[in-house]
Amino acid sequence: MNDLTPEDLLAALAGRYSVGPKQMEAPAPTPEHLRLAAQLALRAPDHLGLHPFRFVSVAPAQRAALGELFARAAQRRGLDDTEVAAARRRAHNGPALLAVIGRLREDVDDVPMHEQWMCIGGAVMNLLNALHLLGYGAKVVSGLSVRDAEVRDAFCAPGEVLVAWVIAGTPTRSTRARHDERVDDLLTEWLGIEP
Ligand SMILES: Cc1cc2nc3c(=O)[nH]c(=O)nc-3n(C[C@H](O)[C@H](O)[C@H](O)COP(=O)(O)O)c2cc1C
Repeated sequence: MNDLTPEDLLAALAGRYSVGPKQMEAPAPTPEHLRLAAQLALRAPDHLGLHPFRFVSVAPAQRAALGELFARAAQRRGLDDTEVAAARRRAHNGPALLAVIGRLREDVDDVPMHEQWMCIGGAVMNLLNALHLLGYGAKVVSGLSVRDAEVRDAFCAPGEVLVAWVIAGTPTRSTRARHDERVDDLLTEWLGIEP
């Protein structure tokens, strides 16, 4: 790592892309690697250090239980048996599965909601980048399961939000090169106030 230039590191980060469940396989990130990635998430800008997020890992032994929650949620949405079975299977997606939980504080005047959401976004991005640099593929997915009260309550304390899931594993395909020209639109210079 010491031999890497800043440009090498940026190129490595620019090669991050979302890897879906069908494009990943075992092994899952090791517990130590997940811990490193969560530690990097803590480097997100966090006004007043509120830590408005946490992650919960779903162990392989718990996937069946999660599948039952997903299936019941699908039934409540009125889906048919085939769709309920598909929802149950989704709990087994990805060698590793993390719940992203938002812990938003409404009582801190100096840190409005949008700042806390920015922190959560930055944390998830850092988690994804860390997993990528460690050689794993990952993707943030939500789906309708996160909005189901029973699924939410199985992961969240009162007042917390089930934001999304992060699935992670070993990518089965190599990184696609991406050339994004949109930077010219998103990075401009302020021209000051007209006299
Ligand atoms: C909170 C959140 C939830 C998402 N939920 C889904 C989802 O349910 N299904 C999906 O295909 N993509 C979802 N996405 C988008 C993917 O994570 C990913 O960003 C997108 O496929 C673009 O890929 P890229 O990261 O390689 O640019 C979600 C993104 C975020 C931030």
